[in-house]
Amino acid sequence: MKTQVCIIGAGPAGLLLGHLLRAEGVDCVILERRTPDYVLSRIRAGVLENITVSLMERLGLDARLKAEGLPHDGFNLADGERLIRIDIKALTGQQVVVYGQTELTQDLMDAAEARDLQVIYEAADTALHDVESDAPYVTYNKGDTPQRIDCRIIVGCDGFYGPTRQAIPASAGQEYERVYPFGWLGILADVPPCNHELIYANHERGFALASMRSPTRSRYYIDVPLTERVENWSDDRLWDELAIRLGPEAAANMTRGPALEKSIAPLRSYVFAPMRHGSLMLCGDAAHIVPPTGAKGLNLAASDVHYAAAALTSFFKANDADAIAAYSDTALARVWKCERFSWSLTKLMHRFPDDGPFERAMQVAELDYIATSVAAQTSIAENYVGLPV
Ligand code: FAD
Ligand code: DHB
Repeated sequence: MKTQVCIIGAGPAGLLLGHLLRAEGVDCVILERRTPDYVLSRIRAGVLENITVSLMERLGLDARLKAEGLPHDGFNLADGERLIRIDIKALTGQQVVVYGQTELTQDLMDAAEARDLQVIYEAADTALHDVESDAPYVTYNKGDTPQRIDCRIIVGCDGFYGPTRQAIPASAGQEYERVYPFGWLGILADVPPCNHELIYANHERGFALASMRSPTRSRYYIDVPLTERVENWSDDRLWDELAIRLGPEAAANMTRGPALEKSIAPLRSYVFAPMRHGSLMLCGDAAHIVPPTGAKGLNLAASDVHYAAAALTSFFKANDADAIAAYSDTALARVWKCERFSWSLTKLMHRFPDDGPFERAMQVAELDYIATSVAAQTSIAENYVGLPV
Protein backbone atom coordinates (compact mmCIF):
# COMPACT_ATOMS: atom_id res chain seq x y z
CA MET A 1 0.00 0.00 0.00
CA LYS A 2 1.15 3.57 -0.70
CA THR A 3 0.09 6.72 1.15
CA GLN A 4 1.46 10.17 1.98
CA VAL A 5 1.48 9.84 5.79
CA CYS A 6 1.59 6.62 7.83
CA ILE A 7 0.45 7.30 11.40
CA ILE A 8 1.34 4.72 14.03
CA GLY A 9 -1.10 4.55 16.96
CA ALA A 10 -4.86 5.25 17.11
CA GLY A 11 -5.02 6.91 20.52
CA PRO A 12 -6.22 10.52 20.69
CA ALA A 13 -3.06 11.87 18.99
CA GLY A 14 -3.20 9.50 16.00
CA LEU A 15 -6.96 9.81 15.47
CA LEU A 16 -6.97 13.62 15.75
CA LEU A 17 -4.05 13.91 13.33
CA GLY A 18 -5.65 11.49 10.87
CA HIS A 19 -8.91 13.47 10.85
CA LEU A 20 -7.12 16.82 10.46
CA LEU A 21 -5.08 15.51 7.51
CA ARG A 22 -8.10 13.94 5.79
CA ALA A 23 -10.02 17.22 6.22
CA GLU A 24 -7.19 18.90 4.25
CA GLY A 25 -7.16 16.22 1.59
CA VAL A 26 -3.85 14.68 2.68
CA ASP A 27 -3.70 10.88 2.31
CA CYS A 28 -2.96 8.90 5.45
CA VAL A 29 -3.39 5.50 7.07
CA ILE A 30 -3.38 4.74 10.80
CA LEU A 31 -1.93 1.50 12.17
CA GLU A 32 -3.08 0.43 15.65
CA ARG A 33 -1.77 -2.58 17.56
CA ARG A 34 -4.93 -3.14 19.66
CA THR A 35 -8.64 -3.66 18.97
CA PRO A 36 -11.04 -0.67 19.08
CA ASP A 37 -12.60 -2.07 22.29
CA TYR A 38 -9.23 -2.31 23.99
CA VAL A 39 -8.34 1.27 23.04
CA LEU A 40 -11.67 2.44 24.53
CA SER A 41 -11.23 0.42 27.72
CA ARG A 42 -8.24 2.49 28.88
CA ILE A 43 -9.55 4.99 31.41
CA ARG A 44 -7.28 8.03 31.30
CA ALA A 45 -7.59 11.80 31.13
CA GLY A 46 -10.73 13.77 31.94
CA VAL A 47 -10.06 17.51 31.57
CA LEU A 48 -9.90 19.18 28.15
CA GLU A 49 -8.21 22.50 27.41
CA ASN A 50 -9.28 24.94 24.74
CA ILE A 51 -6.86 23.53 22.14
CA THR A 52 -8.42 20.06 22.37
CA VAL A 53 -11.99 21.38 22.31
CA SER A 54 -11.20 23.70 19.39
CA LEU A 55 -9.70 20.88 17.31
CA MET A 56 -12.90 18.86 17.79
CA GLU A 57 -14.88 21.98 16.84
CA ARG A 58 -12.77 22.55 13.73
CA LEU A 59 -13.45 18.95 12.67
CA GLY A 60 -17.17 19.35 13.32
CA LEU A 61 -16.97 16.44 15.75
CA ASP A 62 -17.92 18.37 18.88
CA ALA A 63 -21.69 17.72 19.01
CA ARG A 64 -21.53 15.23 21.90
CA LEU A 65 -18.71 17.15 23.59
CA LYS A 66 -20.90 20.28 23.56
CA ALA A 67 -23.97 18.38 24.76
CA GLU A 68 -22.38 16.19 27.44
CA GLY A 69 -19.09 17.93 28.39
CA LEU A 70 -19.12 19.85 31.67
CA PRO A 71 -17.56 23.35 31.40
CA HIS A 72 -15.73 24.25 34.60
CA ASP A 73 -15.00 27.81 35.74
CA GLY A 74 -12.54 26.85 38.47
CA PHE A 75 -10.86 24.16 40.55
CA ASN A 76 -9.60 23.83 44.12
CA LEU A 77 -6.35 23.18 45.93
CA ALA A 78 -6.93 21.73 49.40
CA ASP A 79 -4.29 21.98 52.10
CA GLY A 80 -5.47 20.46 55.35
CA GLU A 81 -8.36 22.62 56.50
CA ARG A 82 -8.14 25.21 53.75
CA LEU A 83 -9.67 25.16 50.24
CA ILE A 84 -8.04 27.56 47.76
CA ARG A 85 -10.29 28.15 44.77
CA ILE A 86 -8.58 29.03 41.48
CA ASP A 87 -11.23 30.96 39.55
CA ILE A 88 -9.95 30.24 36.06
CA LYS A 89 -12.90 31.97 34.36
CA ALA A 90 -12.44 35.23 36.24
CA LEU A 91 -8.64 35.14 35.95
CA THR A 92 -8.30 34.12 32.29
CA GLY A 93 -11.75 34.48 30.69
CA GLN A 94 -11.55 30.79 29.75
CA GLN A 95 -12.91 27.48 30.98
CA VAL A 96 -11.86 23.83 30.83
CA VAL A 97 -14.28 21.06 29.85
CA VAL A 98 -14.66 17.79 31.73
CA TYR A 99 -15.09 15.10 29.05
CA GLY A 100 -13.39 11.71 29.26
CA GLN A 101 -10.58 10.68 26.93
CA THR A 102 -12.58 7.56 26.12
CA GLU A 103 -15.54 9.69 24.95
CA LEU A 104 -13.31 11.87 22.77
CA THR A 105 -11.65 8.76 21.31
CA GLN A 106 -15.07 7.20 20.65
CA ASP A 107 -16.22 10.34 18.78
CA LEU A 108 -13.08 10.27 16.60
CA MET A 109 -13.41 6.51 15.96
CA ASP A 110 -17.10 6.73 15.07
CA ALA A 111 -16.44 9.41 12.42
CA ALA A 112 -13.46 7.67 10.76
CA GLU A 113 -15.24 5.60 8.15
CA ALA A 114 -17.56 8.36 6.94
CA ARG A 115 -14.58 10.67 6.51
CA ASP A 116 -12.52 8.14 4.63
CA LEU A 117 -9.98 7.81 7.42
CA GLN A 118 -8.54 4.29 7.27
CA VAL A 119 -7.59 2.78 10.62
CA ILE A 120 -6.06 -0.70 10.56
CA TYR A 121 -6.56 -2.32 13.98
CA GLU A 122 -4.66 -5.34 15.32
CA ALA A 123 -1.55 -4.49 13.31
CA ALA A 124 1.21 -6.59 14.91
CA ASP A 125 5.00 -6.27 14.89
CA THR A 126 5.02 -2.75 13.42
CA ALA A 127 8.54 -1.82 12.27
CA LEU A 128 9.90 1.39 10.70
CA HIS A 129 12.42 1.39 7.84
CA ASP A 130 14.59 4.01 6.11
CA VAL A 131 13.31 6.88 8.29
CA GLU A 132 16.36 8.96 7.32
CA SER A 133 15.41 8.77 3.63
CA ASP A 134 12.64 10.48 1.63
CA ALA A 135 11.01 7.09 1.02
CA PRO A 136 10.45 5.45 4.41
CA TYR A 137 8.18 2.44 4.84
CA VAL A 138 6.44 0.56 7.61
CA THR A 139 5.99 -3.20 7.87
CA TYR A 140 3.51 -5.05 10.08
CA ASN A 141 1.59 -8.31 10.27
CA LYS A 142 -2.16 -8.58 9.93
CA GLY A 143 -3.05 -12.05 11.11
CA ASP A 144 -0.42 -14.24 9.46
CA THR A 145 0.05 -11.92 6.47
CA PRO A 146 3.05 -9.58 6.27
CA GLN A 147 2.13 -6.08 5.04
CA ARG A 148 4.06 -3.02 3.88
CA ILE A 149 3.09 0.66 3.66
CA ASP A 150 5.26 3.01 1.59
CA CYS A 151 4.91 6.69 2.46
CA ARG A 152 6.66 10.06 2.52
CA ILE A 153 6.31 10.79 6.26
CA ILE A 154 5.77 8.52 9.29
CA VAL A 155 4.19 10.06 12.39
CA GLY A 156 4.69 8.25 15.71
CA CYS A 157 1.53 8.61 17.82
CA ASP A 158 2.17 5.28 19.54
CA GLY A 159 2.47 6.36 23.16
CA PHE A 160 5.40 6.02 25.53
CA TYR A 161 6.13 2.32 24.87
CA GLY A 162 5.64 2.26 21.07
CA PRO A 163 8.34 1.53 18.49
CA THR A 164 8.67 4.92 16.75
CA ARG A 165 10.89 6.76 19.24
CA GLN A 166 13.13 3.68 19.34
CA ALA A 167 13.66 4.05 15.57
CA ILE A 168 15.67 7.23 16.23
CA PRO A 169 19.34 6.48 16.96
CA ALA A 170 20.30 7.39 20.54
CA SER A 171 23.06 9.64 19.16
CA ALA A 172 20.46 11.73 17.31
CA GLY A 173 18.49 12.81 20.36
CA GLN A 174 18.48 13.47 24.06
CA GLU A 175 16.25 12.05 26.79
CA TYR A 176 15.24 14.11 29.82
CA GLU A 177 13.56 12.13 32.57
CA ARG A 178 12.36 12.22 36.14
CA VAL A 179 10.58 9.23 37.68
CA TYR A 180 8.53 10.03 40.80
CA PRO A 181 8.51 7.74 43.83
CA PHE A 182 4.75 7.13 43.69
CA GLY A 183 1.86 6.27 41.39
CA TRP A 184 -1.79 7.32 41.26
CA LEU A 185 -4.38 4.73 42.25
CA GLY A 186 -7.59 5.69 40.44
CA ILE A 187 -11.20 4.59 40.90
CA LEU A 188 -14.10 5.16 38.52
CA ALA A 189 -17.61 4.72 39.95
CA ASP A 190 -21.19 5.50 38.98
CA VAL A 191 -21.84 7.88 41.86
CA PRO A 192 -22.39 11.66 41.84
CA PRO A 193 -19.22 13.75 42.38
CA CYS A 194 -18.57 15.05 45.93
CA ASN A 195 -18.06 18.59 44.65
CA HIS A 196 -19.12 20.46 41.49
CA GLU A 197 -15.45 21.34 40.78
CA LEU A 198 -12.22 19.31 41.00
CA ILE A 199 -10.33 19.20 44.30
CA TYR A 200 -6.56 18.50 44.39
CA ALA A 201 -5.60 17.80 48.02
CA ASN A 202 -2.21 17.73 49.75
CA HIS A 203 -2.94 15.89 53.02
CA GLU A 204 -0.39 14.64 55.52
CA ARG A 205 -1.30 11.08 54.46
CA GLY A 206 -0.69 11.96 50.80
CA PHE A 207 -2.26 13.35 47.64
CA ALA A 208 -5.91 12.95 46.62
CA LEU A 209 -7.92 14.19 43.64
CA ALA A 210 -11.68 14.34 43.36
CA SER A 211 -12.72 14.50 39.70
CA MET A 212 -15.67 13.40 37.58
CA ARG A 213 -16.84 12.31 34.16
CA SER A 214 -20.50 13.37 34.40
CA PRO A 215 -23.08 14.36 37.05
CA THR A 216 -23.47 10.64 37.82
CA ARG A 217 -19.94 9.31 37.32
CA SER A 218 -16.95 10.14 39.55
CA ARG A 219 -13.21 9.65 39.18
CA TYR A 220 -10.96 9.80 42.25
CA TYR A 221 -7.24 9.27 42.77
CA ILE A 222 -4.81 8.91 45.67
CA ASP A 223 -1.05 8.58 45.49
CA VAL A 224 0.51 5.28 46.60
CA PRO A 225 4.09 3.97 46.77
CA LEU A 226 5.36 2.49 43.50
CA THR A 227 5.50 -0.93 45.15
CA GLU A 228 1.76 -0.87 45.96
CA ARG A 229 -0.56 -3.36 44.27
CA VAL A 230 -4.14 -2.63 43.29
CA GLU A 231 -5.25 -5.94 44.87
CA ASN A 232 -4.38 -4.47 48.27
CA TRP A 233 -7.04 -1.79 47.87
CA SER A 234 -10.60 -3.00 48.38
CA ASP A 235 -13.20 -0.43 47.34
CA ASP A 236 -13.96 0.25 51.04
CA ARG A 237 -10.34 0.87 51.94
CA LEU A 238 -9.95 3.29 49.02
CA TRP A 239 -13.15 5.22 49.85
CA ASP A 240 -12.02 5.48 53.50
CA GLU A 241 -8.63 6.85 52.46
CA LEU A 242 -10.19 9.34 50.01
CA ALA A 243 -12.53 10.59 52.73
CA ILE A 244 -9.58 11.28 55.05
CA ARG A 245 -7.34 12.94 52.46
CA LEU A 246 -10.02 15.09 50.82
CA GLY A 247 -11.18 16.45 54.19
CA PRO A 248 -14.44 16.46 56.17
CA GLU A 249 -16.50 18.67 53.85
CA ALA A 250 -15.80 16.63 50.70
CA ALA A 251 -16.13 13.40 52.71
CA ALA A 252 -19.59 14.44 53.93
CA ASN A 253 -20.73 14.85 50.30
CA MET A 254 -19.02 11.74 48.98
CA THR A 255 -21.19 8.91 47.69
CA ARG A 256 -19.50 5.52 47.68
CA GLY A 257 -20.11 2.83 45.09
CA PRO A 258 -18.53 -0.22 43.48
CA ALA A 259 -15.48 0.42 41.26
CA LEU A 260 -16.08 0.21 37.52
CA GLU A 261 -12.31 0.42 37.12
CA LYS A 262 -9.39 0.60 39.51
CA SER A 263 -5.75 0.87 38.43
CA ILE A 264 -2.35 2.34 39.36
CA ALA A 265 -0.45 4.62 36.96
CA PRO A 266 3.19 5.52 37.67
CA LEU A 267 4.18 9.20 37.54
CA ARG A 268 6.93 10.35 35.21
CA SER A 269 8.28 13.48 33.53
CA TYR A 270 9.97 12.68 30.22
CA VAL A 271 10.96 14.55 27.05
CA PHE A 272 12.70 13.21 23.96
CA ALA A 273 14.22 15.92 21.77
CA PRO A 274 14.15 16.53 18.87
CA MET A 275 10.60 15.47 18.00
CA ARG A 276 11.53 14.87 14.33
CA HIS A 277 14.25 12.77 12.78
CA GLY A 278 14.45 12.66 8.98
CA SER A 279 11.03 11.58 7.71
CA LEU A 280 9.74 10.61 11.18
CA MET A 281 7.78 12.99 13.42
CA LEU A 282 6.67 12.23 16.99
CA CYS A 283 3.43 13.47 18.64
CA GLY A 284 2.01 13.07 22.15
CA ASP A 285 3.20 10.44 24.64
CA ALA A 286 5.58 9.00 22.02
CA ALA A 287 7.74 12.09 22.61
CA HIS A 288 6.93 13.17 26.15
CA ILE A 289 5.18 12.26 29.39
CA VAL A 290 3.94 14.57 32.15
CA PRO A 291 2.81 13.56 35.63
CA PRO A 292 -1.01 13.81 35.59
CA THR A 293 -1.29 16.52 38.26
CA GLY A 294 -1.84 19.37 35.77
CA ALA A 295 -4.22 17.36 33.51
CA LYS A 296 -1.88 18.07 30.59
CA GLY A 297 -1.05 14.71 28.90
CA LEU A 298 -3.92 14.50 26.44
CA ASN A 299 -3.98 18.25 25.84
CA LEU A 300 -0.28 18.29 25.04
CA ALA A 301 -0.84 15.49 22.52
CA ALA A 302 -3.53 17.72 20.94
CA SER A 303 -1.22 20.74 20.65
CA ASP A 304 1.53 18.61 19.05
CA VAL A 305 -1.03 17.35 16.56
CA HIS A 306 -2.15 20.88 15.81
CA TYR A 307 1.44 21.84 14.87
CA ALA A 308 2.10 18.57 13.02
CA ALA A 309 -1.11 18.81 10.96
CA ALA A 310 -0.28 22.40 9.92
CA ALA A 311 3.29 21.43 8.95
CA LEU A 312 2.20 18.34 6.98
CA THR A 313 -0.55 20.26 5.20
CA SER A 314 1.93 22.98 4.09
CA PHE A 315 4.33 20.28 2.98
CA PHE A 316 1.90 18.24 0.91
CA LYS A 317 -0.21 21.10 -0.44
CA ALA A 318 2.38 23.88 -0.87
CA ASN A 319 5.61 21.88 -1.08
CA ASP A 320 6.86 23.78 1.99
CA ALA A 321 9.49 21.69 3.77
CA ASP A 322 10.38 24.49 6.22
CA ALA A 323 7.28 23.84 8.33
CA ILE A 324 8.33 20.22 8.88
CA ALA A 325 11.88 21.32 9.68
CA ALA A 326 10.50 23.77 12.29
CA TYR A 327 8.02 21.28 13.84
CA SER A 328 10.23 20.03 16.64
CA ASP A 329 11.30 23.46 17.91
CA THR A 330 7.75 24.81 17.66
CA ALA A 331 6.21 21.87 19.55
CA LEU A 332 8.97 21.63 22.17
CA ALA A 333 8.64 25.30 23.16
CA ARG A 334 5.14 24.52 24.42
CA VAL A 335 5.99 21.02 25.68
CA TRP A 336 8.66 22.35 28.06
CA LYS A 337 6.27 24.91 29.57
CA CYS A 338 3.67 22.18 30.20
CA GLU A 339 6.38 19.93 31.65
CA ARG A 340 7.34 22.74 34.02
CA PHE A 341 3.76 23.32 35.16
CA SER A 342 3.02 19.61 35.68
CA TRP A 343 6.28 19.12 37.60
CA SER A 344 5.74 22.17 39.82
CA LEU A 345 2.11 21.25 40.65
CA THR A 346 3.25 17.68 41.39
CA LYS A 347 5.94 18.97 43.77
CA LEU A 348 3.46 21.31 45.45
CA MET A 349 0.68 18.78 46.01
CA HIS A 350 2.52 15.53 46.95
CA ARG A 351 4.45 14.44 50.05
CA PHE A 352 7.74 12.99 48.75
CA PRO A 353 9.27 10.20 50.87
CA ASP A 354 12.62 12.05 51.15
CA ASP A 355 11.10 15.43 52.04
CA GLY A 356 11.90 16.86 55.47
CA PRO A 357 10.46 19.79 57.46
CA PHE A 358 12.10 22.34 55.17
CA GLU A 359 10.43 21.00 52.00
CA ARG A 360 7.08 20.86 53.80
CA ALA A 361 7.53 24.46 55.01
CA MET A 362 8.17 25.47 51.39
CA GLN A 363 4.91 23.80 50.32
CA VAL A 364 2.97 25.58 53.08
CA ALA A 365 4.56 28.92 52.16
CA GLU A 366 3.77 28.44 48.48
CA LEU A 367 0.15 27.45 49.17
CA ASP A 368 -0.14 30.50 51.48
CA TYR A 369 1.23 32.71 48.73
CA ILE A 370 -1.20 31.24 46.20
CA ALA A 371 -4.12 31.71 48.62
CA THR A 372 -3.38 35.43 49.01
CA SER A 373 -1.93 36.51 45.64
CA VAL A 374 -3.99 37.15 42.52
CA ALA A 375 -0.74 37.09 40.51
CA ALA A 376 0.08 33.58 41.74
CA GLN A 377 -3.49 32.38 41.10
CA THR A 378 -3.39 33.90 37.59
CA SER A 379 -0.16 32.06 36.80
CA ILE A 380 -1.72 28.74 37.83
CA ALA A 381 -4.98 29.49 36.03
CA GLU A 382 -3.37 30.41 32.69
CA ASN A 383 -1.31 27.22 32.74
CA TYR A 384 -4.29 25.08 33.75
CA VAL A 385 -6.59 26.36 30.96
CA GLY A 386 -3.71 25.90 28.51
CA LEU A 387 -0.99 28.21 27.22
CA PRO A 388 -1.52 29.76 23.78
CA VAL A 389 -0.81 27.52 20.79
P1 FAD B 1 -1.83 6.88 23.71
O1 FAD B 1 -3.16 7.28 24.21
O2 FAD B 1 -0.95 6.06 24.59
O3 FAD B 1 -2.05 6.14 22.33
C1 FAD B 1 -1.02 5.43 21.69
C2 FAD B 1 -1.63 4.36 20.83
O4 FAD B 1 -0.59 3.70 20.10
C3 FAD B 1 -2.34 3.28 21.62
O5 FAD B 1 -3.64 3.09 21.13
C4 FAD B 1 -1.45 2.06 21.46
O6 FAD B 1 -2.19 0.85 21.51
C5 FAD B 1 -0.85 2.32 20.10
N1 FAD B 1 0.40 1.60 19.87
C6 FAD B 1 1.39 1.35 20.75
N2 FAD B 1 2.35 0.60 20.19
C7 FAD B 1 1.96 0.38 18.91
C8 FAD B 1 2.51 -0.36 17.84
N3 FAD B 1 3.65 -1.05 17.97
N4 FAD B 1 1.86 -0.38 16.67
C9 FAD B 1 0.68 0.27 16.51
N5 FAD B 1 0.09 0.96 17.52
C10 FAD B 1 0.72 1.02 18.70
N6 FAD B 1 -3.52 12.36 31.28
C11 FAD B 1 -4.25 13.23 31.91
O7 FAD B 1 -4.28 14.41 31.50
N7 FAD B 1 -4.99 12.84 33.01
C12 FAD B 1 -5.00 11.53 33.45
O8 FAD B 1 -5.66 11.19 34.41
C13 FAD B 1 -4.21 10.61 32.81
N8 FAD B 1 -4.17 9.30 33.22
C14 FAD B 1 -3.37 8.42 32.56
C15 FAD B 1 -3.31 7.08 32.96
C16 FAD B 1 -2.47 6.17 32.28
C17 FAD B 1 -2.41 4.72 32.75
C18 FAD B 1 -1.70 6.61 31.18
C19 FAD B 1 -0.80 5.63 30.44
C20 FAD B 1 -1.80 7.92 30.77
C21 FAD B 1 -2.62 8.84 31.45
N9 FAD B 1 -2.73 10.18 31.04
C22 FAD B 1 -3.48 11.07 31.70
C23 FAD B 1 -2.04 10.68 29.91
C24 FAD B 1 -2.93 10.74 28.67
O9 FAD B 1 -3.88 9.72 28.71
C25 FAD B 1 -1.99 10.60 27.51
O10 FAD B 1 -1.13 11.74 27.52
C26 FAD B 1 -2.70 10.48 26.17
O11 FAD B 1 -3.34 9.24 26.06
C27 FAD B 1 -1.69 10.64 25.03
O12 FAD B 1 -2.28 10.27 23.84
P2 FAD B 1 -1.42 9.57 22.71
O13 FAD B 1 -2.36 9.39 21.59
O14 FAD B 1 -0.15 10.33 22.52
O15 FAD B 1 -0.95 8.17 23.33
C1 DHB C 1 -8.34 13.80 35.93
C2 DHB C 1 -7.05 13.42 35.82
C3 DHB C 1 -6.05 14.33 36.06
O1 DHB C 1 -4.77 13.98 35.94
C4 DHB C 1 -6.34 15.61 36.46
O2 DHB C 1 -5.32 16.47 36.74
C5 DHB C 1 -7.63 15.99 36.56
C6 DHB C 1 -8.65 15.08 36.30
C7 DHB C 1 -9.41 12.82 35.66
O3 DHB C 1 -9.11 11.66 35.32
O4 DHB C 1 -10.59 13.18 35.80
